This record gives sequence, structure tokens and C-alpha cells, in this order.
Amino acid sequence: MSMRSHYCGLVTEALTGQTVTLCGWVNRRRDHGGVIFVDLRDREGYVQVVCDPDRPEMFKIAEDLRNEFCVQITGLVRARPEGTTNDNLKSGKIEVLCHELTVLNASVTPPFQLDDDNLSETTRLTHRVLDLRRPYMQNNLMLRYRVAMEARKFLDEHGFIDIETPMLTKSTPEGARDYLVPSRVHDGHFFALPQSPQLFKQLLMVAGYDRYYQITKCFRDEDLRADRQPEFTQIDIETSFLGEQEIRDLFQRMIAHVFQQALGVDLGEFPVMPFAEAMHRFGSDKPDLRVKLEFTELTDLMADVDFKVFSGPASTPGGRVVALRVPGGSEMSRGEIDGFTEFVKIYGAKGLAWIKVNDVAKGRDGLQSPIVKNLHDAAIAEILKRSGAANGDILFFGADKAKVVNDAIGALRLKIGHGEFAKKAGLFEDRWAPLWVVDFPMFEFDEDENRWNAMHHPFTSPKDGHEDYMDSDPGKCMAKAYDMVLNGWELGGGSVRIHRAEVQSKVFSALKIGPEEAQAKFGFLLDALQYGAPPHGGLAFGLDRLVTLMTKAESIRDVIAFPKTQRAQCLLTQAPSPVDEKQLRELHIRLRNPVA
Ligand code: AMO
Ligand code: AMP
Repeated sequence: MSMRSHYCGLVTEALTGQTVTLCGWVNRRRDHGGVIFVDLRDREGYVQVVCDPDRPEMFKIAEDLRNEFCVQITGLVRARPEGTTNDNLKSGKIEVLCHELTVLNASVTPPFQLDDDNLSETTRLTHRVLDLRRPYMQNNLMLRYRVAMEARKFLDEHGFIDIETPMLTKSTPEGARDYLVPSRVHDGHFFALPQSPQLFKQLLMVAGYDRYYQITKCFRDEDLRADRQPEFTQIDIETSFLGEQEIRDLFQRMIAHVFQQALGVDLGEFPVMPFAEAMHRFGSDKPDLRVKLEFTELTDLMADVDFKVFSGPASTPGGRVVALRVPGGSEMSRGEIDGFTEFVKIYGAKGLAWIKVNDVAKGRDGLQSPIVKNLHDAAIAEILKRSGAANGDILFFGADKAKVVNDAIGALRLKIGHGEFAKKAGLFEDRWAPLWVVDFPMFEFDEDENRWNAMHHPFTSPKDGHEDYMDSDPGKCMAKAYDMVLNGWELGGGSVRIHRAEVQSKVFSALKIGPEEAQAKFGFLLDALQYGAPPHGGLAFGLDRLVTLMTKAESIRDVIAFPKTQRAQCLLTQAPSPVDEKQLRELHIRLRNPVA
């Protein structure tokens, strides 16, 4: 016989009058002068169990119950007395009158109360098993399952097949640092954990599998941020014989399907925005379109002003000057402005000039600002005109190398746009804001290394007719690459790939990867491309990011059962950890700095 008849959280008034057997954990035990109430919890939710002294044997056990005891109860479902129902629970209209009670296993006192909402993340990750018992985490992981399942259903219906690719492999080219695994058998040789299945999925296309997918782990040893984990999960996809637009259409439908099925949300049409427009208007290739603030371009205006801070970048190639207009922002205090000035410094900005617009009609005299004295009348008039400034607004300014301006003012846009002020002023729309960013450049220039890098990865196809720019003017070469962005997060990205060996060689040479290095690193791909490789392309979605957004979780770690901390550690298992000398010797490794 089964140990239970129903889930606690699913006992509803439909079962009134029936006897049920439930298994779960004691969330709380409340003693109400002679009657004991137990909130019993399982993965589906809570149910109220009533233990009364009429059944002394059972009651005695109930008296000894403590939080997190694992128990089994059999009892009668009955309506709760009037006035004691709880509309927040599925089981809130009923309670279970306990007839039999068995302690399946006692629990020591947990280090925290499970319904405490103010636990530190360190506490939660150290005691992850208890943390995972909390309804918040259970809901997150159940939604994660549903999302993955809906994606699989969609992909299966569209003829995609799941093929596994190796975890022990060769360094892949997504641009992060690799996690390495030393080989015991081959002294001095290492496997790399995959940063993505990129090359294998392309090989599968050459091998004729046509439509591939995999929900799989990827490993990247990079600096961690709020939306990053060192090991994370991709919904990874590749298809042959579809172009850029068709791939986007298909996977927009997949994401729409997932939102519809898992959340009942209709994402509507996705705007499509060229990379250049996104940078121009928002300083970001993943703009959060919920925030109704935009850059005003001023670079062309500022070369001749008598203010070095602006005229310098405006007359230097690669420099940029912009304003960010915040409607109604003139009520911001000096303290707030100083706070923002400190904030943009994180992104390399040297300052944050501003103008409060008190009375547009009065021109210069209607403005309050540390910098207007340095700007001639025509410049002031044009700033006000282009930005559309109105009385009561504030304008913030960034002037520097374009990257610094984009990063700093882009971050300021989000800081203000996500804050209380923007919500009150109607500058933030609480909605789902998906979009495609397209027409990415093939290459970006790395100033530190003085060389071009692939913006997406080196297997991305240039736009038709752009092949020759690879030699003549790499900065002008655009790629058949696309990113899906949601609420300011890069949810997924991909591209149409190069399927001809000679184009691939050209990209390697633009990246200053010589023929020998290319052969050593990617020879297996170049070889495969010679055997009638089909036109192909694909993309990958970050499952962890997708679920973080869908659950509105505070952190990506809240949708992963056993995540790593910001310092790339697992607090539960204490990994990474030192290993035995014997293990190291087998792997032919001697430590430079032996662990004490
Ligand atoms: P890309 O590097 O853009 O593309 O990764 C695809 C998606 O994976 C997610 N992602 C991450 N999520 C959590 N933590 C991380 N450290 C992390 N890094 C990436 C993001 C991102 O959009 N092979 C290509 C895809 C392709 O071209 O088909 C690739 O990996 O949501
Ligand atoms: P300064 O002339 O250096 O005192 O700066 C005058 C104003 O310009 C101050 O409000 C600074 O915060 C601001 N400022 C300085 N450098 C920059 C910059 N690179 N971009 C935008 N504002 C700046």
C-alpha cells in the first residue's frame, strides 16, 4: 500500500468527508489550549492538521512534534469553522482531523525558521537542503522544470532531436576562461569542460542530423555577476537549411510557447532592433525597454564648446558625448546627484555633469547647472531641443570614450529607471519587454591587445556581401548574429554559421589566428566543412536566466538547486577543496603553492 493518498497542498474541499493519508514536514506546531494544530508541508503546499485530545495516543505524539519532523497522518477532511479559512492556500477552506499520527523521522532543531524571509544567502547556501524545502525555492524549481519541459515539447514537435555532446573535450571558443581537467593517461595534457556545445552542434549539422537540441551544462570560468554562474544550463539549438529570419521566428515562437504554457503570459510581438540603434539610444546591446529613458546624441555638437570635458571626446575619434533626460528629475537633491556621480565612476566615468531645467523659455537663465557657463548659446539651445527637455527635467551628461559613456550612462539609465522615482514618475512600465537585437558587427576591437576579436564567436557568418570587409575594414563587417533580450537581460543568442572552409579561414586570419594555430585548435571543424557542410545556424538560451526572469527571483542562484557563490564556491559541499598528494601525483601535477 502506498504511504500516502494525497499531497498535503492539494487537499481541497472536494475531499470533504473523506479519509486521507498524508506525508510531510511539520512547518509549525501550534498549541491552542488542549488542541494542537500542525501546519503540514510538502512540495505542493500546506494543510492544517487538527489533533485533539479525544485520541490520547495520537495526541501524545502530537505534543512531542517539533519543526521539520517528517510525519505521516491519517485523518478526516472537514470544512474549517467559519472565519478561520485562509484564501491564500489551496487547502485553505478545509482542515484534516487527525486520527493516526506516525513520526517517520524526527529532526534536530533547524538552524533557522524556514519561513524566515530575511535569511542571509550564506546561511541559505550552507544549509541548502533546508532552504530547498521552502515553498519559494520549491516553486522556482518546479517552474524551472515546467519551462524545460515546455521547451522540449516545442522542440520535439518541430522535429528537433536531443543529442548529447561530450563534457570532457577541447577548449571551445566562447571567449571565457576554461575549466580544465588534467588527464591521468596523458601526462601534461588537459581536457576542457565545454563553454558550450558550439562546435559539436555544427559537426552534427555536417553529419546530417539537421535539427539538434540539448538542455545542457556549460562551464565558464569568468568573473561572476548577478546573472552569471560558472556552470549554467543552455537550451542549445542548431538547425540546417534555415536563414537568420526563419531561425528567429521559430525560436521566438518557442519562447512565446514557454511563457504561455508555464505562466499564461502572452509576450506579443517582439520588436527587432539593430545593434547600432540599441547602442545609439540606450548605450547597451541588451536594452531594458521597460525603462522609458533614452540617450540624446551630442557628440557632433560639442567639438567647439569651451569645455574640455565635452570638446575633448567630441573631437577625438571613438569619443562620445550624450545626455540622458530624466523627465521630472529636477526635484532630485544634491545628495542624490552626488550618489549618481559616484555610481557612474564604477564604470570609468570621470564625472557626471548635469543641468536642471527650471524654465525652458528663459534659455540659459532658466537652467541650474555647474556647466552651462561653459556652453555657448547655440549649444545650449540645441541640447534642449534635441533632448526635448521640459520644465522640471534634469539632464545628465556623459563624455568620454564611447565605451565608457555607454557603460556609465547606460548603467545610470537603469539605476534611475529601476528606482522608486521612475516608478512614481511613470518612467518604468511593469511589463514583459522582449526584443531581438540584430545586425551585430562581426568584430570588436580590443584596445588592450590591439587586435580584433569575434563579437559573437569565430564561426558566425558575415552578412552577404560583407566578406571582403574582413580584410579591408573589419569594423564595417556585420554578422548574421542575433540576441534575444528580455527586460534588459540577454536571454539567448546565436547566429547563422560559416559553412564554407575558405570563409572560415578568412575569419581566422582577420582574428590573427594563423593557419597552423587554426588547424591545431579547430582542424576537426575545418576538415568537416570540406565534406559538403550544409548551410546551418542556431542559438542558445540561458535556462537559468530565463527562469530567473519568469519567477522574478532575486538572483540566478534562486533557480538553481545547488549553485555556486559569487566567489565560485559551493558552500554546501565546500567545493573546490584540496586533494590528496596521491591524486595529484597520478595526474602529474605539482602545486606551485601547496595548500597548508
Ligand atoms: P552565448 O555565449 O551568448 O552563446 O550564450 C548563450 C546564452 O547562455 C546564457 N549564458 C549564461 N547564463 C548564466 N551564466 C553564464 N555565465 C552565462 N553565459 C551565457 C545567456 C546567453 O544568452 N554557442 C553560443 C550560442 C550559439 O551561437 O548558438 C553561445 O554559447 O543567456
Ligand atoms: P570639472 O570642470 O571637471 O569640475 O567638471 C564640471 C562638471 O562636469 C562636474 O559636474 C563633473 O561631474 C562633470 N564631468 C567631469 N568629467 C565628466 C565626464 N567625463 N562626463 C560627464 N561629466 C563630467
